[in-house]
Amino acid sequence: MITKKHLNRQIVKTDDGSHTLIIPELNEHYHSIHGAIQESMHVFIQAGFNQLANASKLSILEIGFGTGLNTLLTFIHSKMNQQFIEYCTIEKYPLVNEEFMQLNYASILNDYPNDLLYRMHNAPWKKPTAIDSEFTLLKLHQDLLHLQVDNTFDLVYFDAFGPDKQPDLWTEDVFKTIYGLMNRGAILTTYSAKGQVRRNMKNAGFKVERIAGPPGKREMLRAKKQ
Ligand SMILES: C[S@@+](CC[C@H](N)C(=O)[O-])C[C@H]1O[C@@H](n2cnc3c(N)ncnc32)[C@H](O)[C@@H]1O
Repeated sequence: MITKKHLNRQIVKTDDGSHTLIIPELNEHYHSIHGAIQESMHVFIQAGFNQLANASKLSILEIGFGTGLNTLLTFIHSKMNQQFIEYCTIEKYPLVNEEFMQLNYASILNDYPNDLLYRMHNAPWKKPTAIDSEFTLLKLHQDLLHLQVDNTFDLVYFDAFGPDKQPDLWTEDVFKTIYGLMNRGAILTTYSAKGQVRRNMKNAGFKVERIAGPPGKREMLRAKKQ
């Protein structure tokens, strides 16, 4: 089980040069050590967001705001597709200023204003905040096990810590709750390809496919509400 005591985090560089956080006591990373940006791009943007590139408006739920990298990449890609985004993200253990101020994503992804990630981290909790006129961010300081959201979603980024470290977050019950919040045709993506996770998703009602994972990982899962 993860407790506050475990969240002594350190910032490290991954193989693509982008930062991630590690929790040494748990031997857990926020992203793949083969490349944080590379992994987020593959698992959440290419396998999820880009599948819905034709939608003019999307409602997205993220499990685990963490560094804000998925939010940032989604913002950037929504501009390429000219989409309106309502982005809701939940986080139980938010980063503190000293942590997110050190992240080097701005120097790698240089096509957006430098302060964008900071504005996302500094956005108040529980209050929809316009990052710009097309992108609204709602951050919820919540435990996934007590998820309370008002919206329904077209896309879910399931980015909790791994099922071996947090098995209570990858259960059939949790996936049933999320399934109930998704619109018909909505997609959920996650980096895990574990058999038990796939079975839990299927039992929750999803149609699940195994697809190619990011570098360093053979497979990942994509689930659809039909
Ligand atoms: C694998 S990290 C990914 C974070 C983020 N998507 C990113 O790109 O940095 C998992 C995140 O889930 C959060 N988390 C862990 N347990 C949680 C819980 N019970 N409810 C909500 N968030 C949780 C962690 O604090 C962490 O930020």
